[in-house]
Amino acid sequence: MANRIVLNETSYFGWNARENLVPEIKRRKFERVLIVTDETLMSCGVAKKVIDCLDESQIDYQIFDKVKPNPTIKNCHDGIEACQNYKADVIVAVGGGSVIDTAKCIGIVVENPEFYDINSLEGTANTQNRSLPIIALPTTAGTAAEVTINYVITDEKNIVKRVCVDPNDIPLLAIIDTELMSGMPPMTAAATGLDALTHAMEGYITAAHWEMTDMFHLKSMELTYHNLEKAVAKDKEAMDKMGLSQYIAGMGFSNVGLGIVHSMAHQLGATYDVAHGIACALFLPYVLEWNGKACPERFRKMAEAFGLNVKDREDEECVDLVVKAVRELETRLGVPQHLKELNVQKEDFDLLAEKALQDPCTGGNPRNVTKEDIIALFEKAY
Ligand SMILES: NC(=O)c1ccc[n+]([C@@H]2O[C@H](COP(=O)([O-])OP(=O)(O)OC[C@H]3O[C@@H](n4cnc5c(N)ncnc54)[C@H](O)[C@@H]3O)[C@@H](O)[C@H]2O)c1
Ligand SMILES: [Fe+2]
Repeated sequence: MANRIVLNETSYFGWNARENLVPEIKRRKFERVLIVTDETLMSCGVAKKVIDCLDESQIDYQIFDKVKPNPTIKNCHDGIEACQNYKADVIVAVGGGSVIDTAKCIGIVVENPEFYDINSLEGTANTQNRSLPIIALPTTAGTAAEVTINYVITDEKNIVKRVCVDPNDIPLLAIIDTELMSGMPPMTAAATGLDALTHAMEGYITAAHWEMTDMFHLKSMELTYHNLEKAVAKDKEAMDKMGLSQYIAGMGFSNVGLGIVHSMAHQLGATYDVAHGIACALFLPYVLEWNGKACPERFRKMAEAFGLNVKDREDEECVDLVVKAVRELETRLGVPQHLKELNVQKEDFDLLAEKALQDPCTGGNPRNVTKEDIIALFEKAY
């Protein structure tokens, strides 16, 4: 089968890249903008930076700001209603992965109303129509939702995250304006940056990886490893590099898949509402160590991307080097390393593992995995 790459039509990068928003809206003759964002971004002034651009140009818009982190089916249904009532012809998503994912779900369902239940969009749904056009302006540096063909919605009734994979949802334009990311609280910057690192590392060893995605993932690992701490400390150049790095990782993993760090992390999000980046960071070293048995030769390349000295080292030693480097980075950033710190209950492991095994990301894992393996990993991470 031929390899496939799906990317945005156009993307802009850098400080104040949002200056391209209005010219793009005008050039494409969009007239009614639905801004999708969340209440935190409304109150802390980040959404305003984008809204001001529309106000200055007298572009007609309405705001839907009822997206919560780990967005739910209810959030999407409310957004669909807002979009249809206003008769929007474009969606401008200003936010993290939660906002951009909700925008994608709204855009898909508005143009494919037979999927209104949303659960039927899980996995690879056979939608016939492109989403309503989306312009995505990420405010976190992690998920790369602005360039991926995925969106993740929590089914609050069944307490599970629905991972939806659909090339029809990809935003038309991505505007990676690092100024919008610059006010993130340090723990949000650290956690979302570690989500980007997880995408690069899981994407690099995922089953369907190939030369082009390897290139993206290795570059992203290098950029994140060397810039994340400085970006958390608000170094402007490092923040630009993190904006770029998370996007580059998205160019890769969106087209090849991930692995069980994500399958397991999704369960913490759905069951305990743990922030996605925190959940990924927690499982990453444990799962890397375990997956290292399946593809130790790929860990040599990852160690090199980090700039570690691999001369005279066996591939198996490179696994240890990489795991140690990730653990130390996470410790310096102060993210939780154990499930008990997040009040996760041991009694839930069986059900969490069952759901993780069914997650669409599990199929990409480089090592065959059983429910018992996942339970053992939960226990190790406890
Ligand atoms: N579509 C994809 O390919 C993809 C990939 C990975 C994760 N996800 C999903 O994305 C979601 C997580 O997204 P996220 O990690 O970007 O976090 P998020 O969007 O959930 O935001 C987390 C919190 O940070 C706040 N915030 C965001 N930007 C801010 C800023 N600049 N300043 C101050 N506060 C800010 C938000 O208001 C929110 O309260 C999860 O649901 C996850 O499953 C999607
Ligand atoms: Fe992720």
